[in-house]
Amino acid sequence: MLEVSHLNFAFGKQGLLSDLSFTLAAGSITGLVAPNGTGKTTLLRCLCGLLPSGPGVLHLNGIDLYRKRTAYLAQLFFLENSTQLYADLTVADHLKYVRKMWHSSVSIQDTVGELEVAGYYRKRIRDLSLGMKQHALLAMYLVADPQLLLIDEPLNGLDPTSIQQFERIFTQLKAAGKTLLVSSHQMDSVGRVSDDVFFLKDQHILAEPNTGQDMMAEYSRIFLGQEAAHG
Ligand SMILES: Nc1ncnc2c1ncn2[C@@H]1O[C@H](COP(=O)(O)OP(=O)(O)OP(=O)(O)O)[C@@H](O)[C@H]1O
Ligand SMILES: [Mg+2]
Repeated sequence: MLEVSHLNFAFGKQGLLSDLSFTLAAGSITGLVAPNGTGKTTLLRCLCGLLPSGPGVLHLNGIDLYRKRTAYLAQLFFLENSTQLYADLTVADHLKYVRKMWHSSVSIQDTVGELEVAGYYRKRIRDLSLGMKQHALLAMYLVADPQLLLIDEPLNGLDPTSIQQFERIFTQLKAAGKTLLVSSHQMDSVGRVSDDVFFLKDQHILAEPNTGQDMMAEYSRIFLGQEAAHG
């Protein structure tokens, strides 16, 4: 379980996260939603220590990032987007590296089969399409097999079939007891997979349980100040 206590973050004078406290349970999917430039990626970077927080702010299964950084990080996976993959290495290279570094026993072969990556498993990243790179990136999350998966806009560039495939995989990870925090601009997808939705606004999180409400209407209400039309 991830526990966040009084997280603050600013880039210089630009405050982005103000006194955030929340927990993410094992076996749950939380959607992270906000307009461009609000601080979603910044929050994910803070949760994995790429941006500084402070002592006692972040605990993952009881381990404080500030005091036991390596042990904390060993329990999570975060790679911001597919531009951070190594262009000259293959998908296979990436998956073997991750499996080793995260001390994982997940089968690369099974993951490649499930994600239908086999056709380009031996290709270099520079020769892949955007959607293929998104699949390679998700394959890295699966092969790392961490407790906490921080995933930034995984659906970008995916075709409708792949979106369904990714949603099915998120749901399987949740059933396996993993903790997922997934940012997205695709409100219909957020509505389908999330247990809870974090709307990031004015440096604070408005947390809403997903009770099947129209997430796009929620988005409009929260960020555009529009009440749902009646009639
Ligand atoms: N390294 C940086 N230095 C200074 N400001 C930054 C830096 N990275 C991001 N910012 C600023 O922080 C704000 C939040 O950026 P962030 O990338 O977290 O937004 P986001 O919600 O992920 O947006 P998007 O939906 O476009 O991905 C933006 O105003 C951005 O300009
Ligand atoms: Mg972002």
